[in-house]
Order: sequence, then structure tokens, then C-alpha cells
Amino acid sequence: MLEILDLRVKYEAIAALDGFRAKIPSGAKTAIIGPNGAGKSTLFKAIAGVAPASSGSVAIDGLTVTPKTLRAARKKIGILFQNPDDQLFMPVVYDDIAFSLRAENMPESEVEEKVGEILRRFGAERLAERRTHKLSGGEKRLVALAGVLVRRPSLLLLDEPTSGLDPRARRTLVKTLSELSETMLVATHDLDMAAALCGSVIFIREGRAVASGGAELLRDGELLERCGL
Ligand SMILES: Nc1ncnc2c1ncn2[C@@H]1O[C@H](COP(=O)(O)OP(=O)(O)OP(=O)(O)O)[C@@H](O)[C@H]1O
Ligand SMILES: [Mg+2]
Repeated sequence: MLEILDLRVKYEAIAALDGFRAKIPSGAKTAIIGPNGAGKSTLFKAIAGVAPASSGSVAIDGLTVTPKTLRAARKKIGILFQNPDDQLFMPVVYDDIAFSLRAENMPESEVEEKVGEILRRFGAERLAERRTHKLSGGEKRLVALAGVLVRRPSLLLLDEPTSGLDPRARRTLVKTLSELSETMLVATHDLDMAAALCGSVIFIREGRAVASGGAELLRDGELLERCGL
């Protein structure tokens, strides 16, 4: 269970999160839907302890995230940033995906197996030896995702995972994500993907959760309109 209580994040005069609260059961796939500037990316950064919350709390499977528990909490969390350039940092694709595994001192033969498997899953073996900063936008997104998923974190925070992907890569991604049993929050403007992947939805507006329920809400035109979509 992911429990978010009254989370607030302020950037100077802007309240990017203004008392966001939600309870998300383990294993649930939840779409976070809201207009530009609603606070979706800030929410993910606050859960991962990257954006400083001025109040509120986040608990992951009973572990309340505090400066003391942040390291342990981060092990559970896999965050895909909205901009892959914020994520990728090793010069070569293979090393970028392998980074978190090597950081845990995984034997190199096992690293090779896991990186190979995730690249195959995305049909992206051809990218392994490429320079990360020379990849196309969609290629970067796939590599960033591979780097997040390869470690199998129990809580996935995916910010616009389908943005920039071609139709085939998008289908592969939706299939891959739907086969995972991890708890997943997916911030997206891709309502078709949200409906295909997620069983529940939280609408966010001006930093607050304004509606939540089953995926059928994604077809509620009046609600979408009211949420500024
Ligand atoms: N580092 C920052 N400094 C100042 N303001 C910020 C910063 N990051 C976000 N904001 C502001 O906080 C608000 C929420 O931004 P956020 O990126 O969370 O929105 P979003 O819902 O992810 O939007 P989008 O759909 O465009 O990705 C916006 O008004 C944004 O301008
Ligand atoms: Mg965003």
C-alpha cells in the first residue's frame, strides 16, 4: 500500500502540490490524469524524495519516507522522469541500464543476462552499444524505461512513459507494463494507454486529487472537462 497524506510542495509562490492525498493498494495500476501544470511530475518527485515537501507524508508498505529512511525507500521506488535527459547519464546505453545492478555489486554475468533480457523485451538490442546522448527522443525514453524496470522496484512512478514512442514501441510498452505485478502510478495525457493499462484513475488539478475511481472515469466527458482536459 502506498499512502500519501496531505502532501504539499511549494516552488516560490506556486503551490505545485497543495494537500494531495491518496491511498493506493499494492499491485494496483493507477493513472494520474490532469492538465499541464497540475502537479503530476511534482507528485512523483515528492514521493521519491527528489522534490522537497513542506508538509505531509508518504508511506510505502508501511515505511514512512523520512530523511533517515530515504535510502531504503528509494530502493523500492523506480521513477521514470518526464524528460529522459534527466535520467540518462552514462555515455553508453548498456552501461546506463546496467548502472543500478552494478551498484548493487551484481556479478557481471548476471548483469549481462538482465540487461540483455530487458533490451530484447523492448526490441531494442540494437541500441546496446549506442551513445546515449545521440539517441532519438523515443529511443531515449525506451532506454530510460529499461534502466528503471531492470531492477524490478516494487513501486513504479512512470511520468509520460509513452510520450514520443512510435505505435509499435507503444504497444510493446503497454504489453510489458501490463504483465508486471508491481504497484504502478502512471502520469499521462495518453488516455487510451491509461484505459488499456490502468484499473483506477486519480484526477489531479492545482495540486490536489479532485476525483478518483475506476478506469471508466476516463470516458466521463463531463468530468474530463471539469478537470481541464
Ligand atoms: N523546479 C521548479 N521550479 C519552479 N516551479 C516549478 C518547478 N517544477 C514545477 N514547477 C511548477 O509547479 C507546477 C506543477 O508542475 P508539474 O511539472 O508538477 O506539472 P505536471 O502536471 O507534471 O504538468 P505537465 O502535464 O505539463 O507535465 C507548475 O506550475 C510548474 O510551473
Ligand atoms: Mg509533468
